[in-house]
This record gives sequence, structure tokens and C-alpha cells, in this order.
Amino acid sequence: MADFTRAGLRPSDWWREAVRPGAEQIETITELKRLIDRLEAGESLTEDEWVSLIEGRSPELADYLFEKARCIREREYGKAVYVRGLIECSNYCKNDCLYCGIRRSNRNASRYRLSREEILSCCENGYQLGFRTFVLQGGEDPAMTDDWVMEMVQAIRAGFPDCAITLSLGEKKYDTLKRWKEAGADRYLLRHETADACHYASLHPAEMSFEHRMQCLRDLKALGYQTGCGFMVGSPHQTTHCLARDMRFIEELDPEMVGIGPFIPQHDTPFGGEAAGTLEETLFLLGLLRLLKPKVLLPATTALGTIHPMGRELGILAGGNVVMPNLSPVGVRAKYMLYDNKICTGDEAAECVSCMKRRMESIGYEVVVDRGDYKG
Ligand code: 5AD
Ligand code: FES
Repeated sequence: MADFTRAGLRPSDWWREAVRPGAEQIETITELKRLIDRLEAGESLTEDEWVSLIEGRSPELADYLFEKARCIREREYGKAVYVRGLIECSNYCKNDCLYCGIRRSNRNASRYRLSREEILSCCENGYQLGFRTFVLQGGEDPAMTDDWVMEMVQAIRAGFPDCAITLSLGEKKYDTLKRWKEAGADRYLLRHETADACHYASLHPAEMSFEHRMQCLRDLKALGYQTGCGFMVGSPHQTTHCLARDMRFIEELDPEMVGIGPFIPQHDTPFGGEAAGTLEETLFLLGLLRLLKPKVLLPATTALGTIHPMGRELGILAGGNVVMPNLSPVGVRAKYMLYDNKICTGDEAAECVSCMKRRMESIGYEVVVDRGDYKG
């Protein structure tokens, strides 16, 4: 196990637990470094080049990558770590994604929906704690109507004029997204989940459309939202080719935010027995994303913190610049279980914030009181 001392925390240390590179990989390290240099210079890589880079990763290559990623991240955002207050407003969902713990067919999920008053009180608490971005995240809950969300956004906008409002409520019609934008929403998170249509079909039931999800992301960009896409690392049936496509898709969509985290099985889902994504692959991809999109808002996710006690710190050291502590009322936290063993479900928001500040300070970064907009 790596020695995570205050000074010596290196995001490539995980490799001590993994397989060392073989001879053929050592032969190509110069070529792989050259691909990283080209990425840094703003050149496009082909799908095959992405595959070589991702498959050829090694501790040496990861150190080379992470150093560049940190350098770019510090050039663009300094040592600042932006915080987003996550409010999980409903765990009802009409969808049945095979990986997700709040899928509609999970009869063991205990369902809840926050009231307008509860959400505003989360925002109030969050504001006092220094948050200037609120993320309303939830399943695709038909009872949370377009009008209700619009009024919710208006109320937050009126009560917290200096804060950014991010929505993460799934796929919606263009007109709905337009009305929410006009009501005061600034950003929208909708992970594309995978840029490979066949892979998409293996993660979702037939009634869900890859095309519709992609269209939704294009609509968000067209409407002027700061748009976030993203995917899980190590999801079932994912190949390196899928990841190469994700990178090409992100290059083309040009999102302001990219959320990635390891897939983690949830025991009540069809993927309950599958293996989780790894720390090392997630970190490597975070580094690549920083090089691909120097200004991108890149969270070290809760899922990353769930698979490793230092996951979020390592995510920042690999090029991340955002963390998203939970602001949901403690009483509902454990019910928003997308995957097993999710961290921070028992802690008050205030505890999470001071814990997060300490964690970021321990690696030489600083949680800031700021909306943390995309520096376009
Ligand atoms: N493991 C990791 N991430 C998950 N998500 C959903 N289920 C899981 C899981 N089992 C992610 C999806 C979704 C986001 C809100 O959470 O990528 O878009
Ligand atoms: Fe939640 Fe540490 S960030 S307890």
C-alpha cells in the first residue's frame, strides 16, 4: 500500500498494487510520451492513438501525464478547488439503467422527494458554509414537473443571487431546458455515459435512446448552459475503444464540465456482481481530460472517494479542480444510493465541508468561496 504522507502523495502510487509494465510497453514509452506531448500541444489524436495511450499506461507514463495535467490546471485555475453543494432532490426515477441503484425496478430502494422548503433550507445551510453553486440532482421523477422545477429555480435565483444554479435532472425536451435556463439555471450536468452506441445499449433498457441523450447534450450547449457530460470508468462491457470514443466525443462536444468516476456495483441491480472500475484507470483518464480540455471543470467525484480513501485528493492531483460535497438532508442521504458503500452518507454538510477543506489543504490546494464558473 502506498505511503500517503502529507508531502509524498503521488497519484501514480496506486501502481504498486497493480501489474508492472511488460517489456513491450517499456519499448513504446517514448512513443506514448510523444502522444501526450501532442495532446498538450492541442493536437487531435485518432481513435487508435487514444487506444494505445490508454492501454499503454504505466506508472512512469502516469507521472509524466499528471505533472503536465497539474501544471495546466494551475495555469488555468491556480490552486483553487471549486466546491459544489449537491442537493439530491428526488430518488424516484422512471428509467431503468442497468447500473443504477435508483432504477425504477429496484423495489428495495426507499423513495423520497424533497419539498421546496427543504431544498431552500439546504441552500441556506450551504450558503452559510461557503457554497456559491447549488446542484439540484435527481432521478427522472415525473412528479417533479417542469413548472415545479422552474419555480424552484426562480426561488433559488431570487434568494441567492450571487450563486450559480446547476441542474442534473436527466433528459428533458428543448423547450423545458429553455424555460429552466430563462428561470435562472446556469449549468446542466448530463453524463453521456458512453459515446459508443452499442455499449450504450448494453447499459440501458431498449426504451432509452443514445441518440436522444446526445441530442439533449447538443441542445444544452445551444441554449448556452455550461454543459457537463461524462461517463463511468470500468462500466460493464466497456472496452478501451469505448473510452477512445468518449475522448473523441468530448473533444467534439467541447463541454465546460466532465464528470467521470469509477463504476461501482450496486447489489440490487443486474450489474450487482460486476467488478468496479479502478482508481488507476480513472486517475489516468482525469489526467488525459485535463490535457484534452485545459479549462474544463473536472470533479474528483464521490465515486472516486468511495473506491479509495484518498480518491478525491488523488483526483485533484491528477488534474481535477472541483469537489461536490453533499448538502442533502442527512435523513435522505442513505437513500440516494446509486452504488454500494457511498461515502459521506452519515455526515452533516458542515462536517463534510471542514473535512474537505482539510483534505485539500493536505495536498497543497485550497477550497474557495466562489461560483467557480468556466473560464472560457
Ligand atoms: N456506479 C458509479 N456511478 C454510477 N452512476 C449511476 N450508477 C452508478 C454506479 N453504479 C453515475 C451515472 C450517472 C450519475 C448521476 O451517477 O454516470 O449519470
Ligand atoms: Fe464528507 Fe469527508 S467529505 S466526511
